[in-house]
Amino acid sequence: MLRFPSMIYNIEETYAPDPGAVIKGSKMDKSKLAINGGAKSIEAFEGTGQPKINNEEFLEMASVWGYSQEIIDKIKEAIEKDDLGGGPSLVAYTPASRMYQLAERAAELFDVKYVIPVTSGTAALHSAYIAANICQGDEVIVPGFTFMATAMAVVVVGGLPVWCEVDESMTIDPADLEKRITPRTKAIAPVHMNGYVCDMDAVMDIAKRHTLKVIEDCAQSCGDSFHGQRVGTIGDLGCFSISSYKTTGGSEGGLIMTNDEKLYYRALQWAEAGGLWRPDRYALSRWEDELFCGVNYRMPELSAAVNLVQLGKMDAQLDRWRTNKKRILAGLPVYKEIKPQAIHDIDGEHGNSLGFFAETAEEAERLASILSAEGIGFNTKGRSDGRDWHIYKYMSPIMNKLPATSDGYPWIDPKTGKEFPVEYSPDMCPRTLELMSRRVNTGIDQWWTENDCKQVAAAMTKVFDVLCTRDAKGGNWLELAGQ
Ligand SMILES: Cc1ncc(COP(=O)(O)O)c(C=O)c1O
Repeated sequence: MLRFPSMIYNIEETYAPDPGAVIKGSKMDKSKLAINGGAKSIEAFEGTGQPKINNEEFLEMASVWGYSQEIIDKIKEAIEKDDLGGGPSLVAYTPASRMYQLAERAAELFDVKYVIPVTSGTAALHSAYIAANICQGDEVIVPGFTFMATAMAVVVVGGLPVWCEVDESMTIDPADLEKRITPRTKAIAPVHMNGYVCDMDAVMDIAKRHTLKVIEDCAQSCGDSFHGQRVGTIGDLGCFSISSYKTTGGSEGGLIMTNDEKLYYRALQWAEAGGLWRPDRYALSRWEDELFCGVNYRMPELSAAVNLVQLGKMDAQLDRWRTNKKRILAGLPVYKEIKPQAIHDIDGEHGNSLGFFAETAEEAERLASILSAEGIGFNTKGRSDGRDWHIYKYMSPIMNKLPATSDGYPWIDPKTGKEFPVEYSPDMCPRTLELMSRRVNTGIDQWWTENDCKQVAAAMTKVFDVLCTRDAKGGNWLELAGQ
């Protein structure tokens, strides 16, 4: 199986002296020259410097990010041994590289052919849209509830995001998605939001019938699965953020995954535009469209060292979150006025958040504050109009079609000089806004004990019993989720 980087750059071979390069016409004894087998003039330098990045930088990082001892040891090892600052040329393409090891490890863990570590989730999305050949004027369908990066990266490559509704899982609504398809639609970007996974069967079915590419945004769902397959490996390309703000990862970082060789090479060329990964980096294209202009999104070795450790912890973390969520769901009776957030795969979701819908936005606000007073933080958007770059209507760079450059790119069609026919208005996805306003949400701690989970369920039950009516049919939230 071919994995990133597909070809290891062979430094020795490339820089070996050319034995034919013998100096001619000189009066000196040519056999003394090192190139002709004579003694080398310089065997070593006494003043060999210290690694450019050393313990002071490491301690700085460790204190900022609160790394565990295991990670500290890995970083220390990486810094002390490898001189990551000015180290061996192109270290990233050798098996000694943490970035290389991270790609290998992720490919194994996610059971996917190709992984490219990059600098952020946004960089992963940018590269994936390029790989999928999203061109100026192409439409990409994006759910109205996501972080703005999913849609902004579409704009950056010249495409036009088209908003669609979310369903009661707060992930892309397949029924509405299909309605938003036009002859200009090129791709769908389902987002596994807050660890709730999308209905990927429905998304893939629609994509197949309309010949659309699927670029999964897994920034908030690293390691999750849908019907036994990891998200990010179901669509054509998967994009992950593994920054410190996500459950897996540290510092800044992202991953691109695909099983498609062509998409892999296109994403790699974009994210590694110097083509440094190629066996002969200065060679002309080896196949049509191999080389094109791109950027450098290579993940730094220090981030890779951290993320290598983080990835190893991922499945155990997921196990703890899922167990705790199931414990809480099993302890919650069903109420007439409360609707749990829909779960498309209870065994595959992240388990780090728990949401439900109240009957009205006002009721959601009331429940969030009464529940929070019981000792667990709940939040809701409720009736507030507070700006939030997770809800489409507040994403002003997109809603106002703001260009980065004075030529109006990409909103203006260069062929006609007119705006592309995509419209934005705050009421485009009323259901998404309505669901957002009634959703009440809390985070679940992976380290809660069984008793802690019982306490949470008991606190919620106490509040619901006072304010709501139990469903006469009985049952609990775990059963509603299909278990
Ligand atoms: C859904 C979603 N997509 C993309 C991103 C962008 O990731 P990054 O911050 O690593 O660029 C985020 C980050 O918060 C996210 O939540």
